This record gives sequence, structure tokens and C-alpha cells, in this order.
Amino acid sequence: MPIGFFDSGVGGISVLKEAVKLLPYENYIYFGDSKNAPYGTKKVDEVKDLTFKAVDFLLSKGVKAIVIACNTATSAAIEDLRTNYTNVPIIGIEPALKPAVELNRKGKIIIMATPMTLAETKFSNLMKSYKDRADIVPMPCAGLVELIESGIIEGERVNSYLNEKLKPYLNGDLSSVVLGCTHYPFIKNELLSVVTKDAEIIDGSLGTVKQLRRQLSNMGALNKQDKGGTVEIINSSNDEELLKLSYRLLEY
Ligand code: DGL
Repeated sequence: MPIGFFDSGVGGISVLKEAVKLLPYENYIYFGDSKNAPYGTKKVDEVKDLTFKAVDFLLSKGVKAIVIACNTATSAAIEDLRTNYTNVPIIGIEPALKPAVELNRKGKIIIMATPMTLAETKFSNLMKSYKDRADIVPMPCAGLVELIESGIIEGERVNSYLNEKLKPYLNGDLSSVVLGCTHYPFIKNELLSVVTKDAEIIDGSLGTVKQLRRQLSNMGALNKQDKGGTVEIINSSNDEELLKLSYRLLEY
């Protein structure tokens, strides 16, 4: 049985990549909803609705687990999903604030994410747990997902977007930048060129995939060595370019 992955578009491929590395004998079905991306600036109910449809689609493919490889869809829908679908494990992703705080470095922790992720209760609860231990700056990044969806992951446009956003923080101490949206690991090179100081860049992909492994292992559902190893990518958009971009990002 395959493992289902879902994101609003091509971003969740950054999580899928980690899964393929950690669990190479599994078969994967990735569904990207680029037709409806970006999710992060939509209404919560709309994102919830789209996420339920995506989960139904993956279940129709006979998956044994589902990874919601999208911080935005996780914050909008994970609790309702788990209440509704009790027969299959559903793993979500959230901004990796914990590892950033545990670095125990001097300076600000910037959390880059979509406006919805930062506005939802899930994130306020996360903030509550850590705000006394670190200087945390939530940074909503509307418009960045659109660039990545159109295949622009480096160069002048991404650089000036990041420069504009991060400029106010570049002269002080910067501990780390948390990539709280699964699209953002693809612009990491450009981000590194902007955050010239020694700030760490952190994302939650590996933690999420370890959680997936734990759950499958507890169920006795991990594939044996001689099985699997396939990746199928499906996109809601009819644009061939998006499929090409998806496979390119998987190798990136
Ligand atoms: N990859 C999604 C996330 O992790 C992007 C959401 C969007 O489409 O705005 O939040």
C-alpha cells in the first residue's frame, strides 16, 4: 500500500524528498493542488474543504497513511481530519519552533510562514509554549508561494522579496530562520545569500517524516527491503509544466 502526500502545490515535495531518503522502500502518491494554490491567503473554511477533498482522493488510491505536507492545511484542518478519519494515520506539519528554541542561540528567531498558518490557533498555542524562552518574530510571507509555484526559486525576484522582508533584522542578532511553509526549503540558497550572518535555517520536514516512520512502525506497516520505491505525482492543475517542476524539485 502506498503512502499519500498532500500539499496546496509543489511545496510538499520538500517533505516527500526527506521521506524517500528515510523510507526508500515505500511507494508514494503525491497530490499537489496547484489549481487552488496558494492556500495561505484563503478563508480557513475553504482550505478545510479543499483538504478534506484531497484526503478523500488519496484514500480512494488505497493509501496506508497520509502526510499533510502543508503547514497551512495542517493548521486549518488536522483536528477535524483526525476526528473524521480514524482508520488511517494522518500526520501533519507545523513550524519547527522547538528545535529553533533548543539551539539556545542568542538573537531573534524568525518564523516565515503563510498568513493563515500564523493566524491560526495551532500557531498561537505553539507561540505560548515558547515565547518566554526566546525572542520570536512571526513573519507572514504572502506572495512567496506564487513565485515558487511558477518555478522561480532563485534569482533577482526571490532575492529582493527576501531582502525586503528580512532587512529590518539583518543588523541585529539573528539566531535562526524557521521555514514554516513547505514551499520555502526550495528558496533556501537565496535565503542563505540574504541572511549573510551565521543564522541557522530550520525546517520541519525531517521531524515530520520521523513521525510518519514511527506511526507506520507501530502499525507494523513499514515495507520490507525488497518492496516499493516508486513515486507518483498527481497535480490538480492541467499544466504540464507543474508536473515537470514537481519532478525537478524532487531531485533538487
Ligand atoms: N506549502 C504550504 C504550507 O506549508 C503553502 C500554503 C499555500 O499554498 O499558501 O503552508
